[in-house]
Amino acid sequence: MNVAVVGTGYVGLVAGACLAEAGNFVTCVDILEDRVNRLKDGATPIYEPGLSRLLGNNRKAGRLRFTTDYGEAVPGARAVFLAVGTPPGADGQASVGHVIRAARSVGEHLSENATVVMKSTVPVGTSELVRKELSEAGARGFQMCANPEFLKQGDAVNDFMYPDRVVCGVDSDVARDTMARLYAPFVRSGRPVLFMDIPSAELAKYAANTMLAARISFMNELSRLCEVTGADIEDVRRAIGTDPRIGPYFLYAGTGFGGSCFPKDVAALVSAGKARGVDLQVADAVLRANTIQCTVLVRKIVRRFATDLTGRRFAVWGLAFKPETDDTRQAPSLKIIRELLDAGATVAVHDPAAMEKAKAELPPRGVDYCDNEYDALDGADGLVMVTEWMQYRQPDWQQVAARMKHGIVFDGRNVFDPRLMRERGFEHYPIGRIQTGPDLIDA
Ligand SMILES: NC(=O)c1ccc[n+]([C@@H]2O[C@H](COP(=O)([O-])OP(=O)(O)OC[C@H]3O[C@@H](n4cnc5c(N)ncnc54)[C@H](O)[C@@H]3O)[C@@H](O)[C@H]2O)c1
Repeated sequence: MNVAVVGTGYVGLVAGACLAEAGNFVTCVDILEDRVNRLKDGATPIYEPGLSRLLGNNRKAGRLRFTTDYGEAVPGARAVFLAVGTPPGADGQASVGHVIRAARSVGEHLSENATVVMKSTVPVGTSELVRKELSEAGARGFQMCANPEFLKQGDAVNDFMYPDRVVCGVDSDVARDTMARLYAPFVRSGRPVLFMDIPSAELAKYAANTMLAARISFMNELSRLCEVTGADIEDVRRAIGTDPRIGPYFLYAGTGFGGSCFPKDVAALVSAGKARGVDLQVADAVLRANTIQCTVLVRKIVRRFATDLTGRRFAVWGLAFKPETDDTRQAPSLKIIRELLDAGATVAVHDPAAMEKAKAELPPRGVDYCDNEYDALDGADGLVMVTEWMQYRQPDWQQVAARMKHGIVFDGRNVFDPRLMRERGFEHYPIGRIQTGPDLIDA
């Protein structure tokens, strides 16, 4: 099938590459000329495991092309995916400006019987706005589908290739048939393609992200109760996660959730509720709890040292909002670093993939970017463990101790065992677990 994908970010590129891998002829269109040129030259502009190989193979096989010209991408396409960003707007509302502009451009070139597929995460009603925009731009005889994407950055290729389910909101047989054909190669193991109406599909994505974020916020709040009662959040996690009604996922206490999806999608759901007179109190609390949690490590650091951190230096391990991505959008690391800098400290940072993106967002002064995680430790008063990349989980503790000024570890992801840290002679401040050192309980 001929397919066009609008937007070559984390979602659009992965979708385009995977659809091409299944034998479709895919043209990806983006307004960023530099990005498109890099893709044409064979570069992969984002870090996503497995993506480079897919892009390379399908580009060489002639099934995957890149352009800035809608007139090259859209005519003749049976399916046109909109995968542009929907960043947070005023009052937490999802801003759909990119979607509407993309729809206008698509509408000028759309073939009859094409299905326009809303891949971006959009508030209920957006697909109808897009339908109107497409018609006003001159498109005729097309179909709409709301097909929210559930991939996780860091494992996005696998998620697209082997989805747990595919959600398709449709209101025509043509759209249903097109989507069923497109996804057939990805659901051969029997995973369902769930057809439903368009509003339900649009809302499902926000519901999923808010549910997952709620689990994290709940565990984060519980971790504070653990600290004042002497309970261990990791034991609590294991105890409840083995209950099949609860399940083991998204139950890890830490420094709060970040990324380009959870914070914005929960805020957008709350805001959509408000706009329609529905007070979504649980979702609102999820966000408030997360705002507090994102600075839990800074609160511990300030209690351990002083409000004024002038002259102090901290090593920060991990900048990406989660491991296996270079994405720093809404990353807790950035908030933590800014607060440390504001308090007078300097930081030395390391991340295997996200240094460039972090550099573009952080202040130019007070931050040293290090080639490896050990270099960041030199002369540090404390190590702040923010993103649990695999390579940080079992460091050479002798080297860590030798290079730091003080053996103090703020463990924002509970990756180090409290008992072993005590035996190794470190002060260790995890989240919701027994700590070693002066009392910094976060009540
Ligand atoms: N990143 C994720 O993990 C993820 C997962 C599921 C759903 N989503 C949703 O998917 C959507 C895209 O997210 P993303 O992370 O890929 O965004 P992104 O910012 O990485 O990429 C968006 C791309 O769209 C391009 N673009 C913007 N306006 C355009 C236009 N008019 N024409 C052509 N291209 C245009 C941008 O240049 C950019 O390359 C969002 O709605 C997001 O909420 C994201």
